[in-house]
Amino acid sequence: MLRRFSVSVSEAFGILSSRLRACQSVGESAHTEARVLLEHACQQPFYSMPLASKVEDSTWNSCQDLCTLRCSGTPLAHIVGKKEFYSRQFKVTGDVLCPRPETECLVDLTLDCVKKFCDRPPLFVDVGTGSGCVLATLLLELPGSAGIAIDKSAAALEVALSNFSMHGVIDRCRLHNCDVLQPRWERVILEDPRERERSIVIVSNPPYIPTAQIADLEPTVQSYEPRTALDGGPDGLIFYRQLAHTELLHEFLCVVEYGAGQHSEVQKLFETGGRQSVKVTDCTDLQGIRRASAFQFRAARTMNAPEH
Ligand SMILES: C[S@@+](CC[C@H](N)C(=O)[O-])C[C@H]1O[C@@H](n2cnc3c(N)ncnc32)[C@H](O)[C@@H]1O
Repeated sequence: MLRRFSVSVSEAFGILSSRLRACQSVGESAHTEARVLLEHACQQPFYSMPLASKVEDSTWNSCQDLCTLRCSGTPLAHIVGKKEFYSRQFKVTGDVLCPRPETECLVDLTLDCVKKFCDRPPLFVDVGTGSGCVLATLLLELPGSAGIAIDKSAAALEVALSNFSMHGVIDRCRLHNCDVLQPRWERVILEDPRERERSIVIVSNPPYIPTAQIADLEPTVQSYEPRTALDGGPDGLIFYRQLAHTELLHEFLCVVEYGAGQHSEVQKLFETGGRQSVKVTDCTDLQGIRRASAFQFRAARTMNAPEH
C-alpha cells in the first residue's frame, strides 16, 4: 500500500500546539504537550525528528485523535501512559496517582536527611508507594540503599513493580500489599534480618485530601485519579496520625509530604501526639509552599504499646 505524507513535523507541531492552546485544560503548556503527543505517535524523540521531514498520514491521524482526547480532558500522562518525575519516566495507569512535581521536594528532603542523619546505608520504607516514583528515585539516587514499597492497592503495586524493573532497582526492594491504617502495620519493616543493619527512613506522600473536599477537586482529578490515593479521612490527617504512632525497636526518620496549609497541624501531630518525634527539617516547593517535613523518632523500648 502507498504510504501518504501530507504534513511536515513542523506543521504538525504548529497545528497541535494551536489546538492544545485553545483547550482550557492545557493552555500554557501547549508546546510541551504537542511535543509529547508527537513523540508518542511517532515513537521517537522530538529532537531526532527533522522539522522539514514528513509525518505519515496514519501517524498524523492517530496523533490528532490523541489531541482530541487531550482536549476532552484526559490527562496527558494517561494518554501516553507515562509521566516524568525527577527527570526520569515512570509508567502511569488509572490505578496510581500521577507523580506530581511538588513530590520532588519530598525526595530532595529525604536525600538531604540521609546525608545529615544516617550513619548506615538507608532502608527506605515508602508508605503508599503508588507508581513507586518516590522509592525508585531514592534507590537510583543512592546506589547502596534498599527499600520496601507498601500500598493497600494491589493494582498500584503492579505498576510500581513495572517501574522498579524498568529502572533496574527491583533487586533492592520488596513490595508489600498492606493497609497501614491497621494496628502494627510497621511489623512488615525489618522482617528481613539483613535490613536491621540499615538506617530506617520512612517516606510517605499519603492521601491527604479531607473526604468532604474531594467533591470540590478539579473534575479531571476526580475522574482519573484513584480515590484511595486522595482520601485522607474526615480532616485529611488520618495517615499522619497513624505514622506519628509508628513504633520500631530502632530509631528512625519519617519524612512526609502534606497539602498546602497542613504544615502546622502535621507538625503538631508528630511532635505532641503518638510517639512524640522531633522535627529535624522541612522544605518548601517551587511556589514557596511548605510541602514536606522530616521527624526523628527514638527507638521504642518494647513493642507492647496499646493499639490505637
Ligand atoms: C497520594 S498517593 C502517593 C503515590 C506516590 N507515592 C506518589 O507520591 O506519587 C497515596 C498512595 O497511598 C495508597 N494508600 C491509600 N490508603 C492506604 C492504606 N490504608 N494503606 C496503604 N496504602 C494506602 C494509595 O493506594 C496511593 O497509592
